[in-house]
Amino acid sequence: MTAPTGARAAAPPRQAPTALDVARIREDFPILHQQVHGSPLIYLDNAATTQKPRPVIEAVSRFYCMDNSNIHRGLHELSQRATSAYEESRGKVRRFINAADDREVIFVRGTTEAVNLVANSYGGQHVGAGDEVVITAMEHHSNIVPWQILCERRGAKLRVAPINDDGEILMEDLEKLLGPRTRIVSVVHLSNALGTINPIRRIIELAHAHNAIVMIDGAQAAAHIRLDMQDLDCDFYAISGHKLYGPTGVGVLYGKAALLESMPPYEGGGDMISSVTFEKTTYNKLPHKFEAGTPNIAGVIGLGTAIDYLGSVGLEKAASHEAELLAYATRAITGISGLKIIGRARQKSSVLSFILEGIHPHDIGTILDREGIAIRAGHHCTQPLMARFGVPATARASFAMYNTREEIDALASGVHKVIEVLR
Ligand SMILES: Cc1ncc(COP(=O)(O)O)c(C=O)c1O
Repeated sequence: MTAPTGARAAAPPRQAPTALDVARIREDFPILHQQVHGSPLIYLDNAATTQKPRPVIEAVSRFYCMDNSNIHRGLHELSQRATSAYEESRGKVRRFINAADDREVIFVRGTTEAVNLVANSYGGQHVGAGDEVVITAMEHHSNIVPWQILCERRGAKLRVAPINDDGEILMEDLEKLLGPRTRIVSVVHLSNALGTINPIRRIIELAHAHNAIVMIDGAQAAAHIRLDMQDLDCDFYAISGHKLYGPTGVGVLYGKAALLESMPPYEGGGDMISSVTFEKTTYNKLPHKFEAGTPNIAGVIGLGTAIDYLGSVGLEKAASHEAELLAYATRAITGISGLKIIGRARQKSSVLSFILEGIHPHDIGTILDREGIAIRAGHHCTQPLMARFGVPATARASFAMYNTREEIDALASGVHKVIEVLR
């Protein structure tokens, strides 16, 4: 993988990545050591969700065994322990994404909730009749539908930047879509269906030049690309914990403090208030204004542990291993009769989508599953993107730090087997 425009360039200098001890890392992931349909599990569905290392599983379990309590409201020991562990995770996230302030880190359920929060709160406040929201043709449904709902509600227009046949945004066309009515530009950082890494720094600059704010869907990117919110000058950035070796049901919305301060709450309830009377409620300060109700405390603590874990491995080391796997896998399946790779962007990471002439991707997935190989077959929640490529679905292998070349060899033989059986 080459350095993505706009993400790694200005991060603090780090040592050149050296080889990853994958065998050692695999020991940390208990789930990988099992047989599926009589073969060793080969898990290549990491873009859907990553597996969890033992420290994350243990942190969640320890919380429920020792510290379980509600946060922020209790004076007793357990509540204080739970509150400090929860808030420590916020600090870990802040450092991980280089946000300026803990107040800019909002815990949410995941990327989906983060986008809905911004669409409802910021969008509800700033998008009116005739205004425009710009997305791209490669967005996940969770970065399409919330904007459609907003645009329908406000009489605004959703505009879609096209992509080329390799799966790259046509930047000149995107630029032409930006104008005085553009209020929000929302773009995926790393496409879950194509693997494309988008030039988000340039997109942020262009949008800001038109006085629009930018939301980045970082659901896939956070595990593979070093993030630096201050350097990117990003307005909002969404992360899903479960794609980052953390638990399900927890994620992060990063937002610039000044924007979050000026936005109305998304949900009302406990913890997001400062005082309540029947006449008037005043809201809590950031970040609590956007964290109504009891959050996923164990999940947040698990996410903090996942970030520690990734830090101990080294994100750059993991990313360079994944880049090597992607190149190896691309070579391994290129040339297989009737196979076409969907997504050949120059800037790409960790996702290999393909189709086989005359064979439905679901059949590919089913036959590979019988060999113990877990891939994903479907539209990957990107139906408009599938329509752009004229396919109903693709088969998708996606890589994480614990995958190996041997697993990719097994994938390639599995694909040959699929052809033998079905052609
Ligand atoms: C690019 C992208 N955006 C958004 C999402 C939604 O993430 P979540 O389901 O964790 O909210 C996903 C999940 O697959 C994704 O890959």
